[in-house]
Amino acid sequence: MSTSTGNTPVIQLRDLAKTYQTGEVEVKAVRGVTLEIQRGEFVAVMGASGSGKSTLMNILGCLDQPTSGNYLLDGVGVAALGRKQLAILRNKKLGFVFQSFNLLARTTALENVELPMFYSHPLIPLRTRRERALQALEKVGLGDRVGHHPSQLSGGQQQRIAVARALVNQPELVLADEPTGNLDTRTSIEIMGLFQELNDSGITIVMVTHELDIAAYCKRIVVMRDGQIIGDQRNENRRHAREERATLDQAEQKARLA
Ligand SMILES: Nc1ncnc2c1ncn2[C@@H]1O[C@H](COP(=O)(O)OP(=O)(O)OP(=O)(O)O)[C@@H](O)[C@H]1O
Ligand SMILES: [Mg+2]
Repeated sequence: MSTSTGNTPVIQLRDLAKTYQTGEVEVKAVRGVTLEIQRGEFVAVMGASGSGKSTLMNILGCLDQPTSGNYLLDGVGVAALGRKQLAILRNKKLGFVFQSFNLLARTTALENVELPMFYSHPLIPLRTRRERALQALEKVGLGDRVGHHPSQLSGGQQQRIAVARALVNQPELVLADEPTGNLDTRTSIEIMGLFQELNDSGITIVMVTHELDIAAYCKRIVVMRDGQIIGDQRNENRRHAREERATLDQAEQKARLA
């Protein structure tokens, strides 16, 4: 597997299409998407329900294959790879965050974060796995919750574990499908703050969201309709989560003192 660096876009899609066939019914979920995403971008994907956002994300994440068209991930044609190569590529380059967190219930925070490293190739020794998982949990501010099970944690904390899990293999690209869909405003700002930090450290992020307020933290906003891209713009007026958090904290402190 050759790896490209330098100016190769992280994602190159050319005339990508995905058609689902369910019995007699054919759904053209994605219809001819051409898109380039460069290293270091932070892209929001928006669009009405059913417009093909998740379908596109599944293809970007190599969880599903397009019906036609091309997908180059880091310059590598995904279609030509076998199952095993694909699994290795996914494990090495991609991190996933979902709306519903997707954590294992009977497993501690630490073990949840360790999980992706079990499938790493070459194998990572147990001690290194543990150290890295701890580091990732500390990075998302949960160093004091490593032994907790998901049910013993708030929604925002669970999502932060999911972010730690997405980070633990040091991916180049994080794919997130409505990561704040189940979170309140304050917790959403927290998660976006984490994403902005990750992005500042060089990780490329593609994130589906329904909310303009959340898309506003991204650098670029892509809009889909009926399986096609109908809008693609730089976000000139970015929100900055860390500053907003500080302002919120100050306001709360004032209210407490009053
Ligand atoms: N596995 C599948 N089999 C058949 N049809 C599917 C499948 N997954 C999605 N579809 C159809 O493809 C279209 C696009 O679905 P997709 O999940 O990509 O939309 P979305 O933009 O993510 O919507 P939402 O905002 O509701 O999550 C929809 O019409 C949906 O019914
Ligand atoms: Mg969806």
